[in-house]
Amino acid sequence: MIKVGVMFGGESVEHEVSIISAVQAMQNIDKEKYEVVPIYITKNKEMYTAAFLNDIEIYQDMDNLKRYAKNVTMYVKDNRIILQNKKGLRKIVNDIDIVLPIVHGTNVEDGTLQGYLETLGVPYVGSNVYSASVGQDKVFMKQIFKSSGLDTPEFVWFFENEYLENKDAVIKNIEKLGYPVIVKPARLGSSIGISKANNKDELINAIEDAIEYDDKIIVEEVIENLIEVNASALGDYNYYKVSELEEVKAHDVILSYNDKYLGNGKGKLKGGVSTGSKGMVSADRIIPADIDKKLRDTVIEMTKEAARILNTSGVVRIDYLIDKKKKKVYINEVNTIPGSLAFYLWEPVGISYRELLDSIITSAIKNYKKKCKKVYSFDSNILENCNLKGGTKGVKRSN
Ligand SMILES: Nc1ncnc2c1ncn2[C@@H]1O[C@H](COP(=O)(O)OP(=O)(O)O)[C@@H](O)[C@H]1O
Ligand SMILES: [Mg+2]
Repeated sequence: MIKVGVMFGGESVEHEVSIISAVQAMQNIDKEKYEVVPIYITKNKEMYTAAFLNDIEIYQDMDNLKRYAKNVTMYVKDNRIILQNKKGLRKIVNDIDIVLPIVHGTNVEDGTLQGYLETLGVPYVGSNVYSASVGQDKVFMKQIFKSSGLDTPEFVWFFENEYLENKDAVIKNIEKLGYPVIVKPARLGSSIGISKANNKDELINAIEDAIEYDDKIIVEEVIENLIEVNASALGDYNYYKVSELEEVKAHDVILSYNDKYLGNGKGKLKGGVSTGSKGMVSADRIIPADIDKKLRDTVIEMTKEAARILNTSGVVRIDYLIDKKKKKVYINEVNTIPGSLAFYLWEPVGISYRELLDSIITSAIKNYKKKCKKVYSFDSNILENCNLKGGTKGVKRSN
């Protein structure tokens, strides 16, 4: 059995969404091949582990959760990845072979969790630090897309202090795009802090709203006659496969947090956690997307190219904005750890959620072994450290 530490939660506005994604994954993983070890990161950045953390109901009562789950730290010793009690007698609670990060948003999905794991020497599934961090910053991402020849909406960007010190100059620069524009915090997600502005007054309000969330702001031209289409890419730079395409229906000016995760606000929130089983599958989706073959082919080609440019690994989702009158496809963003791991885009092409999880874990182990063969430092025994159970020694273990 391979012991997979599923890490989720963390200090992010998408904390609850991550719990839902992780619980779905833990319930769908192949139990014959993998043993799940849930590792929940609280909003205070503390790690807890317990078998019962695979149940969504548990998250409604945090006090209870903390009382019965074990508060742990993670470290690598003698080629074992250990979860040890943080307090008291510091007993070893469990060990794992590899981490499956199912986190969304800043402080976790953006390369910070991946960097933490790299520093400890823990193998993990999915995109590396570089892809993850670029995937979280809408400015970096769009600069790279643009310079690689992928069409993306025209944009300008600035820091909070530049705006506060010289509002007129910043606004003048934005107005070159022409109204309407869309204002976004550069490094958030789930549509938080995003608004559309049709004139200068609305623009000022939109900027002041966005800087509540982030000190880096991006402003884009608005794509009109909009259809929103998403595709998932699976694999790594060796080969990317593209999923079925979905069309996402927005109910408001922009696709809001409610649309995406709570089924247009109808989902029930209890103790901050959506208890509905639909989770992220509840947004209004049309699968396959209702677009012609030419647009479809463009989206598929752009998805392979964008995944390659950002060197993503595992399963990612790439989102597009299409002007249906101009028949033009713009790449909007990459989600390196998509909600529900985008499993619902793979089912229609014959890949079950179980197979999807198996595929990303298996290729992470393979890539880890390959990486271990490269020498990083001459004065350390790095090759020996790569002897983790999920690594070079292979995966067959008796316990
Ligand atoms: N340039 C744009 N033109 C038109 N609509 C946009 C544009 N950018 C974003 N939107 C709308 O806002 C939503 C959220 O923006 P997005 O960049 O995807 O942020 P998030 O990371 O929060 O999902 C999109 O799903 C889309 O509905
Ligand atoms: Mg989006």
